Amino acid sequence: MIPGDGIGKEVIPQAVKVIEASGANVALTEFDWGADRFLRDRTTVPHDGFAMLARDFDAILVGAFGDPRVATNIHAKEILLGMRFKMDLYANLRPVRLLDVALCPLKNAGPEDIDFVVVRENTEGVYTDAGGVFKQGTADEIATQEDINTRKGVERIIRYAFEYCERNKKLDGSPRSKVLMCDKSNAMTHAGGLWQRVFKEVSAEYPQITPQHMYVDALCMQMVRDPRQFDVIVTNNMFGDIITDLAAGLQGGLGMAASGNIHPGKTSMFEPVHGSAPPIAGKNMANPFGAILTAAMMLAHLGMTNESEKIEAAVLEAVRQKKTTQDIGGSLGTNEAGGWVVKEVLSS
Ligand code: NAD
Ligand code: IPM
Ligand code: MN
Repeated sequence: MIPGDGIGKEVIPQAVKVIEASGANVALTEFDWGADRFLRDRTTVPHDGFAMLARDFDAILVGAFGDPRVATNIHAKEILLGMRFKMDLYANLRPVRLLDVALCPLKNAGPEDIDFVVVRENTEGVYTDAGGVFKQGTADEIATQEDINTRKGVERIIRYAFEYCERNKKLDGSPRSKVLMCDKSNAMTHAGGLWQRVFKEVSAEYPQITPQHMYVDALCMQMVRDPRQFDVIVTNNMFGDIITDLAAGLQGGLGMAASGNIHPGKTSMFEPVHGSAPPIAGKNMANPFGAILTAAMMLAHLGMTNESEKIEAAVLEAVRQKKTTQDIGGSLGTNEAGGWVVKEVLSS
């Protein structure tokens, strides 16, 4: 566990309580990587930290990173993006599920209408830090931020999306059947061309799955107009970041959204989609359900399906009974909402 900063330090303890209540057979170790540690001794990731995580642990549960006292955000970059890049966690899996009609800002949208997943490329794109600044501070300043797209990286994430589609069902038990690639290949033609070619090739290997395509701008409009049409969406690092905050809005907000950073067969990392939310940090206000659902995702990944399902069912019950934090219409604090889920898990 790496709770990190801000509300990460409040929601991860709730997720831990719930994991323990579920009876999952896991031994938990906590690491203090984050802004406090960085400000104390300038350490972001201890020497050999990623190798240690990969060697000694089966999975990593993370809160969030980002602290107003660290203006450069260097610790978040080195810890969070460090794990994704250096541990090669290439698939950022972000399920989008509406648990209850009351949580969705769209008219007449119910749980049966919103059950899709975004597969975000997690190790390339504009996040690689390729580029630089030239003549900084002058009138001739130039900044470049390069968009790196490798054949290997594009192919493995697209293949991951098709494999995911083949192997996973929707919540109602029906099979998944469509993979939609989201890009901006009409304007970003070099990278977009590569994604288009690879998508065509890989989709031909999965004749039973319907391949689809949308430009990212049109997809944003469709996502709020008719989210029912989506099944599995595959996209690059930056578009994946943006559309999953939008998609979180459909689920009741950032407090509800879970994610996994996965490399099949390697130590993978699980974190809620939200950040450290400095304005509400330390106030017992943050919604712990995104972190709790993330813990359930982690347990499922580790093969503990029963424990995972018990936790998901308990969160669903909490939502139905409005035993929630204020952001989704309840009146409980972070601790109390987490505690309610613990009791529900224990009695199931
Ligand atoms: P944020 O996700 O922290 O907050 C966005 C909005 O959502 C805020 O209004 C916040 O109050 C609300 N919110 C988020 N999580 C919530 C929860 N669990 N319960 C209730 N409300 C919640 O995004 P931001 O404000 O853009 O960023 C704040 C900091 O977090 C920045 O430093 C940013 O870089 C960092 N960040 C980190 C991660 C991560 O570690 N994975 C993700 C996103 C942002
Ligand atoms: C996320 C976050 C990160 C990202 C930030 C904190 C670098 O927004 O996990 O969605 O952009 O990937
Ligand atoms: Mn984000």
